[in-house]
Amino acid sequence: MRTISVYYPKKFVFGNGCSEEFVHDFIGFGYNKLLLVTAVPLLKLIEPIASEINKAGKEVFIYDSVNAEPTIEDLDKALEFARSKNINSVVGIGGGSVLDLAKLIAAMLHNSQTIHEVFGIGNLRKREIYLACLPTTSGTGSEVSPNAILLDKSDNLKKGVVSQYLVPDGAYVNPLLTKSVPPPITAATGIDALIHCIEEYTNKFAHPVIDVYALEGIRLISSYLKRAYDNGDDEEAREKVALGSLYGGLGLGPVNTAAVHALSYPLGGEFHIPHGLSNAVLLPYVMKFNMGASVDRYAGVALALSAAEGKDNFHTAQNGVDKIFELCEQLNIEVKLSALNIPKDAISRMAEGAMKVERLLKNNPRTLTFDDAVQIYNDAY
Ligand SMILES: [Fe+2]
Repeated sequence: MRTISVYYPKKFVFGNGCSEEFVHDFIGFGYNKLLLVTAVPLLKLIEPIASEINKAGKEVFIYDSVNAEPTIEDLDKALEFARSKNINSVVGIGGGSVLDLAKLIAAMLHNSQTIHEVFGIGNLRKREIYLACLPTTSGTGSEVSPNAILLDKSDNLKKGVVSQYLVPDGAYVNPLLTKSVPPPITAATGIDALIHCIEEYTNKFAHPVIDVYALEGIRLISSYLKRAYDNGDDEEAREKVALGSLYGGLGLGPVNTAAVHALSYPLGGEFHIPHGLSNAVLLPYVMKFNMGASVDRYAGVALALSAAEGKDNFHTAQNGVDKIFELCEQLNIEVKLSALNIPKDAISRMAEGAMKVERLLKNNPRTLTFDDAVQIYNDAY
């Protein structure tokens, strides 16, 4: 068995109401200037958290100018704000974009490296200040992962920083925070979490330590996402999807994603399609492309999706692909690139962009060439 190294937060907490545990922990640490990174629609949600910390005599500076797909310029602006307030601790409370930005602020605040120097795997040298993450979507899994993604507008590519120093000190997953997420975002973020699990389980570097999380994550998300989508107040469904999302997040550091994510980044970079949606549209086509190279694994995915068993693993795996189409239909996600208003003549440019995401393509169970990328985009069109 291959050796696997895993960096997880010093503390991760899962459960309804656990935001209070964050407040309690934070007050006990003795940091006096907290940067709270969030987004404008969440200001009401974070108000009780900020005011409890305030009451304990700590200063809380709220930074809420986080765009849906943060850019290098967004990070620079946030760092300028953080420096002006002389903060000594950071918490991100929000969806994936907020958490990624919070992680990078904490890591880059006292760092002489430039963002271009830290893009890639293992290039970031340190993080000096305390960092906690509370996700409000289920989700990106960013609260437990060593990854953060930024858009580089100079070439319209989404680039990743992967480092043990981006793993937060504390991750507090409170499923109740996801109750107000509107149905389309519940669907897109939930499918993203499902894809994390699928790409980890079928990964070229899949590992038994992560397989258990990934398979259970597939089972939980595919069983409960429709319920969470139909009724945001369904606390049982919210809890199960949040747990599945956490499981997906736990595999991002040690195993990570593969071709679905690599092919989806150009859709986000150039056309600003939200991450979960651009992934969802590509998932069944990448599954079809990969299936033959790893038929037993894809049959395992299919069974975790509650697809019917076929006469052999190949047919079971095919039933799994059908199950994904079915789930997307239930979530009103149209599984077509053309539905996202992407012009057909962008395909070869997108394929070029995707081929640059080597850090994820190397994980794919089947080698993927430029022509394969073009073919997959065409299939998905
Ligand atoms: Fe993702």
